[in-house]
Amino acid sequence: MKRRNDLKKKVRILSLFLTALMVISLSACGSKDSSVEDSAQQNNTVESDQSTKEDTAEASTTGEASQTEDQTTESEPGSESGDILVVYFSRTGEQYTVGVIDKGNTAIVAEMIAEETGADLFEVLPDDDHYPMTYNELTDVAKQEQNDNARPAYAGEVPDLSRYSTIFIGAPVWWGDWPMIMYTFFENNADVISGKTLIPFSTHEGSGLSGFDKKLSSACPDATVSDGLAIRGNDCQNDQESCSMRSRESYLYSVHSASYTEQKVV
Ligand SMILES: Cc1cc2nc3c(=O)[nH]c(=O)nc-3n(C[C@H](O)[C@H](O)[C@H](O)COP(=O)(O)O)c2cc1C
Repeated sequence: MKRRNDLKKKVRILSLFLTALMVISLSACGSKDSSVEDSAQQNNTVESDQSTKEDTAEASTTGEASQTEDQTTESEPGSESGDILVVYFSRTGEQYTVGVIDKGNTAIVAEMIAEETGADLFEVLPDDDHYPMTYNELTDVAKQEQNDNARPAYAGEVPDLSRYSTIFIGAPVWWGDWPMIMYTFFENNADVISGKTLIPFSTHEGSGLSGFDKKLSSACPDATVSDGLAIRGNDCQNDQESCSMRSRESYLYSVHSASYTEQKVV
């Protein structure tokens, strides 16, 4: 009887021991699992931190890129080519040797240069209609303005000149000089024009460039004035192929910083 009791006692102790062992091992497993979870969670946190950092880095890179793009856009000129503007003055109506014209001679050259270079265009227009449409009357008004050293006003808003590094500036020769309205333009914009490359061009009926380059240099002393282009007004209307070639030449010369020789000026 005592033996049976001892055996029962031993079995209970053994089962208690086994139970305790199971509890211990289960709790150890549980803690192991949770630490795995913790570490996985930590990893996730690191990953998400990392990806946040990467996202941020990417975002800031993208930001930088878009900022760079923005800056490029800001500094990017309106023109396809980047930074060229063509400013011109021109008259329609009755004109010397060509009769009544719908598009001014200088306007034709200006548009050709713009097309060749992808430049923007700005036309200097008088802010009233005091320039007659008949040739003789126009020459009288122009002579008077020259004698008075007048500064006729122009209309419209000048584009932001700071966006351009190169500006072609053209006009018809009037009494051997720039039309006075162009001096208004030069003087009003001399500050912004300083440091830029200016390429003068004229249309004329025999006087060539008429010192447009030197006069432009005097009016805008802080700009670099390239040698200019002179084209016969009659060619603009009646020989557009040569006119176009000359316009292209003007661009190529300006790009290669080459100078026009006297022979190139008609
Ligand atoms: C008021 C006036 C003065 C001119 N003076 C000259 C001149 O001194 N020398 C010259 O070669 N052509 C002279 N011309 C001719 C113009 O320069 C020429 O016809 C020019 O191509 C006109 O350009 P536009 O159509 O763009 O106005 C004069 C024309 C006008 C209307």
